[in-house]
Amino acid sequence: MRVLVSGGAGFIGSHTVVQLVAAGHDVVVVDSFANSKRSVVARIEALTGRPVELHAFDLTDRDKTERLFGEEALDAVIHFAGYKAVGESVERPVDYYENNLGTTFSLLRAMSRHGVSTMVFSSSATVYGADPPVPMQEDLPTSATNPYGWTKVMQEQIFRDAAVADPSLRIALLRYFNPVGAHPSGTMGEDPSGIPNNLMPFIAQVAVGRRERLGVFGNDYPTVDGTGVRDYIHVEDLAAGHIAALHRLTQTDEPVSVWNLGTGQGTSVLELLHAFERACGHELPYEVLPRRAGDIAESYADPSRAHAELGWRAVKTIDDMCRDTWRWQSQNPEGYPE
Ligand code: UD1
Repeated sequence: MRVLVSGGAGFIGSHTVVQLVAAGHDVVVVDSFANSKRSVVARIEALTGRPVELHAFDLTDRDKTERLFGEEALDAVIHFAGYKAVGESVERPVDYYENNLGTTFSLLRAMSRHGVSTMVFSSSATVYGADPPVPMQEDLPTSATNPYGWTKVMQEQIFRDAAVADPSLRIALLRYFNPVGAHPSGTMGEDPSGIPNNLMPFIAQVAVGRRERLGVFGNDYPTVDGTGVRDYIHVEDLAAGHIAALHRLTQTDEPVSVWNLGTGQGTSVLELLHAFERACGHELPYEVLPRRAGDIAESYADPSRAHAELGWRAVKTIDDMCRDTWRWQSQNPEGYPE
């Protein structure tokens, strides 16, 4: 297939592009580089041994999106592009709604005009809302606790409505749990700008000496050791889930399919910290801080639907995730070059 990957220079997008090329697909990347660096592209090319066909623009620009679809005979879209920082979304809600919904509108309009009916969308377990029962199953009601989360809930609804109006559409809503890890080569990984919001990149920056210590947000949750429990999934497993979903969409009659992409295993903050200490070979300092507003005690997937319907399951362990993150972070202490 000839696949348009929006946000193909981002963390999950870049790993998915490498796997798509390895699986024999033609890939066209579109990325505004709003939250990624151009040097990612050379890393992708080094891993695939092929040039990346790159379009550097913002998908909220409908005319440019329309022109791209006119030039490229696309078969499918994998839509990663979007703003993703929870705290920033509370401060700049209009930017989040405008950007995250606007990219989806441009893509849906261009797909409709050019007869492209296959779409794999980056959704998130955040759509399960404030206090979902674990393990989380796909048929739970959706809601959100911040504008970022609402953009995912809303985009899911937009896709569902579009598929009612156009039954030829085949859409996968992939609900990611907590993506971590890096390419096993150590040449691609997560490179957040500024102070990392998420746990794994923060731990990795402590390990490499960029931050003094980890702040643990609360140790009085009703969990194994009092710290928050999450379902960390290796970005390589996650990328493989996209390829499985893409293939499944070519065989299904369902207009909209929803799949959790997680391992089904919960890991606490301290368990992840200690696993990282094993990977990097030294102790990592931490201090316990108050709970972070909006955090839930436990989040982990019921991944059985994806296994049954996609034949996919996550295979990498927490130790694999820490080892690969450490390889990436120690080889690229400041992340990607400009
Ligand atoms: C967060 C977002 C979620 C988003 C996801 C993307 C919030 C409230 N939720 O989820 O909407 O989809 O990232 O990956 O921001 N922790 C620390 N110290 C840190 C950072 C995190 O103790 O410096 C703890 C958190 O309290 C939590 C766990 O580590 O228990 C994981 O946090 P994080 O990586 O931010 O992911 P989520 O909270 O699951």
